[in-house]
Amino acid sequence: MDIHLISPFDKIAKVALSESILNRANKNGYVNYYFYNLYKYADFPHQKIDDSPFGGGFGMILKPEPIFRIIDEIESKYKKQQKYRIVFPTPDGRILNQKISNELSKEEQLIFISGHYKGLDQRVRDELVTDEVSIGDYVLTGGDLPSLVIIDTIVRLIPGVIGKIESAKTDSFSNPLLDYPHYTRPESYRGLKVPDVLTSGHHENIDKWRQKKRLEKTKNRRPDLLEKFKNN
Ligand code: ADE
Repeated sequence: MDIHLISPFDKIAKVALSESILNRANKNGYVNYYFYNLYKYADFPHQKIDDSPFGGGFGMILKPEPIFRIIDEIESKYKKQQKYRIVFPTPDGRILNQKISNELSKEEQLIFISGHYKGLDQRVRDELVTDEVSIGDYVLTGGDLPSLVIIDTIVRLIPGVIGKIESAKTDSFSNPLLDYPHYTRPESYRGLKVPDVLTSGHHENIDKWRQKKRLEKTKNRRPDLLEKFKNN
């Protein structure tokens, strides 16, 4: 998969994608990251990437030209043979969930435009953007962190990226129930003991205990998910 990131602040994503699993996914050839700094595509000599809104109002709006130029460059690189989706993170988009991440993880080419809420010229949204996605009902200062959140959920789903495909599948949200509690050594720490059942070696009882914990946690924290589970 090729992931293209367009941003005025490409250092944010460069740093985040150079660590841990998202970096390893790149090193092991599962994903390529390409960074486009908006300023480099803005008109000389001022390299202005935003301007005030027509009709008045607060804030600055990202200008369309640098973004259209970057998309043209990506298109010419792939000779328009590959289809791609262009994601714009914005609080007024569809709320991200595992289904959206699964769907996006099957694409060969993804482009992310990290801009500012309200601050993207509508012509870019109308003509280029294919997916407007929100990461939750709250507002961040910009689109870089939301882009990274969405990318993280996608890259970990590419087969081979995380050790066992199973660990992705059993996570909360791939399953209608939330995850069960996990423990590791030491068996007792500061007087806090691991539940006996987990050290019993009795696999059937362990499975039953885990299922019980999933149901309890889901009932307490996300009763809405429990309804879905019952209706399945
Ligand atoms: N940009 C600012 N806030 C956001 C949010 N909640 N989701 C996606 N993009 C955003």
